Amino acid sequence: MKSIYLIGFMGSGKTSIAIRLQEKLNCKLQDTDQMIEVHYNMEIPTIFTEKGEEVFREYESSILKQTEPEDAIVATGGGIIEKEENRKWLRNKENVFFLETSWEEISRRLIDDQSRPIWNNQSRDKQQLLEQRLPKYHEVANFIIKTDGKSVETITDDIISKINA
Ligand code: S3P
Repeated sequence: MKSIYLIGFMGSGKTSIAIRLQEKLNCKLQDTDQMIEVHYNMEIPTIFTEKGEEVFREYESSILKQTEPEDAIVATGGGIIEKEENRKWLRNKENVFFLETSWEEISRRLIDDQSRPIWNNQSRDKQQLLEQRLPKYHEVANFIIKTDGKSVETITDDIISKINA
């Protein structure tokens, strides 16, 4: 199986769905944020405060290219589509799933979140960021899954049926 890449905004459910897919398909699970933390031995918020977003984006690009091309579920960070280089790379992949979640649902899910530097940056307009990113997610996705009101189980089964089709 060609690896499955999950893309989408913060709070779209990439991590939970990746875990469930990995259990059901019995394959490898990779999470670009976790890989960055291990590889650079630094937590994501620390990278943002000490090195800045641009450096984080460079790390993210480099890590994306180190993901397994076969038999893995790859959960990506919400901003993976910011770099044209990454979009180009993802456009060459077969199983890129965009988990499309509304602003209302995202803000409900992340109401208590304290771990995401961009989400917690009060000077950034996150709703506008989502709108700016939407066309970029669409540009690279082979499949679009609307997630509002759906369970992890339903979304996972939908993804599996699409890759088996
Ligand atoms: C980011 C999303 C985060 C993480 C970093 C930046 C973004 O991942 O990569 O904080 O730019 O949207 P999640 O989408 O898993 O929260």
